[in-house]
Amino acid sequence: MKLSTKITTASLVLFFGAALGFAAPVSENWENLCTKCHGADGKGLTKVGKKLQLKDYTDAKVQAEMKDEDIFKTISDGVTDKAGKEKMKAYKAELSADEIKDLAAYVRKFKA
Ligand code: HEC
Repeated sequence: MKLSTKITTASLVLFFGAALGFAAPVSENWENLCTKCHGADGKGLTKVGKKLQLKDYTDAKVQAEMKDEDIFKTISDGVTDKAGKEKMKAYKAELSADEIKDLAAYVRKFKA
């Protein structure tokens, strides 16, 4: 009796732990993977961001020019310059489609 209660408790802890830990929250992904270039505020005014001449995602005009499918595609496949040199990494190997979707929505929220 006692043993089975312990087992049930342990599996509940495991279950909820896994459910919570399954996908990193979007703000954490943005913070860990994207702010180095795009900045925590999405303005792209970091050292690297300035060099890469990143767009300002708080700018309504910039937001209007971006299509949802392009945002998703850029995060999945990355960005290369004309010479094929990588400017932004492809994230589809480390992020799930849902995480990329969440990040795309997160980018939209920077609009002032
Ligand atoms: C090494 C620097 C770097 C990192 C890190 C980076 N990006 Fe980018 N990103 C770029 C460059 C360069 C461009 C292309 C220039 C531009 O659009 O401003 C770009 C473009 C974009 C675009 C514009 C797509 C469009 O249609 O115009 C989005 C959205 C974006 N990045 C999101 C992200 C997200 C989300 C992350 C984190 C998962 C991320 N970026 C990480 C450099 C980076």
